[in-house]
Amino acid sequence: MTNAKQLIEQVCEQASLTEDDWWPRLIAYANALYEIAWTFHWRSKGSNYYGDHELYARLYIAARDDIDGIAEKAIGTTDDDSFIHARRWARDTARIVDSLVEDDFTAHNFPAILLAAERGFLDLVSDMKEAFETQGILTDGVDDFLQAAANKHEGHVYLLQQRARD
Ligand SMILES: [Fe+2]
Repeated sequence: MTNAKQLIEQVCEQASLTEDDWWPRLIAYANALYEIAWTFHWRSKGSNYYGDHELYARLYIAARDDIDGIAEKAIGTTDDDSFIHARRWARDTARIVDSLVEDDFTAHNFPAILLAAERGFLDLVSDMKEAFETQGILTDGVDDFLQAAANKHEGHVYLLQQRARD
């Protein structure tokens, strides 16, 4: 599995990124989490089946809510919707999913895959906040929004860490 941090660096090449780059990447990353967690929800099996099925449901529902919130925050703060485009979204999502999910995996690997994916989301949020701060475009509202997202996903990391110890 590609290290989540390396992936973010590849996808973002952050130094020169503008708001129009960061927001779509965050939306695509949330969409990748959504797709991965939802497919794992269907494919969970074995002795932990029901707990896993419910845990992955919680994660995909949270990611789905993130997508909508991020897109609306992005458009609200930039007053621009041109950088949100279905083809770009699908392409960026596919790249992220490809990097996080290997072909040869079983239900036993699902918690570790999601744990790495959730940590990647936290890395992305942290890098985005830092970049916005450096560029002087981190408003109080965006700061609060990103911190709330990080808080929620740190909760997911806790749940997955406990599960991945099995
Ligand atoms: Fe379901």
